[in-house]
Amino acid sequence: MSNITSGELEVLIDLIYRKTGIRFEEKKLYFISKRIEKRMNALGMEKFSEYLRLLRFSDRDNHEFQQLTDLLTINETYFFRDFPQMEVFAEQCLLEVSEKKAKAGRRSLRIWSAGCSTGEEPYTLAIILSEMLDDVSEWDIKITAGDIDTNALEKAKRGVYEIRSVRDVPPEYLSKYFKVSGGLYMVKDQIRNMVQFEHVNLSDKNQIRQKMGFDFIFCRNLLIYFDDISRKRLVDQFYVALNPGGYIFLGSSESVGRINTAFKLKKVGGHIVYYKGENQL
Ligand SMILES: C[S@@+](CC[C@H](N)C(=O)[O-])C[C@H]1O[C@@H](n2cnc3c(N)ncnc32)[C@H](O)[C@@H]1O
Repeated sequence: MSNITSGELEVLIDLIYRKTGIRFEEKKLYFISKRIEKRMNALGMEKFSEYLRLLRFSDRDNHEFQQLTDLLTINETYFFRDFPQMEVFAEQCLLEVSEKKAKAGRRSLRIWSAGCSTGEEPYTLAIILSEMLDDVSEWDIKITAGDIDTNALEKAKRGVYEIRSVRDVPPEYLSKYFKVSGGLYMVKDQIRNMVQFEHVNLSDKNQIRQKMGFDFIFCRNLLIYFDDISRKRLVDQFYVALNPGGYIFLGSSESVGRINTAFKLKKVGGHIVYYKGENQL
């Protein structure tokens, strides 16, 4: 972008960081500039300073910041992403927690998909629950799925996907849990009804503090966009939001242990998993 000074861009990058926790590095500047240009064109603005002023001083309802955020987030996802991790969840952790809860007469499961993008992850979890629990209809199940990106959430709620999103879905699940029409794959209602989507900003302390009582938290491939400080703040809050004995799953390049040492770790099925100890608050 020609009329933008590096000082102004720094102010914007800092604003994005403070509001979302996402830290853009210098190598991403071209990516950001292109998206800012798109917003400025939509608003008929020529000067970047004018756009910056709008974001900083006149965007009272956060409307323009939301439009920009929707363009800046990276939404890459697909069903059954990181299949081995999903297997460990399904065959080990889920069975352990559900058996324990059933024995105690508490047949309820709460799962949080934090940074759910276009919905493939929470729907995958709903499919796994339907497959793994003998009597899924007798369980009180709630999968809460949240993202900062309003466009991604709209797509998630529609639950309609192209072939590339379902490429890793085992064929028998594809016919069981999707309706196929015109080359598109629509998630069936029995799965959709298990997931509740919500707009959430994971770097907003007030929104996150209210989250409690989860048996499982998935926050995969999101923390890579955060810096160390916002990453730690969020993972510390995940610890509080988990039930004792509950598990947390991050992306394969993200390690819970390096961020928060209160989590316990163990090896199941050849994989390391992190959980909150039974007697922890
Ligand atoms: C790469 S996707 C990961 C989707 C899914 N968890 C997976 O692993 O396939 C990262 C998502 O995190 C969301 N995100 C980034 N910052 C966020 C924030 N501060 N609050 C909520 N969601 C955020 C983005 O909008 C994006 O949809």
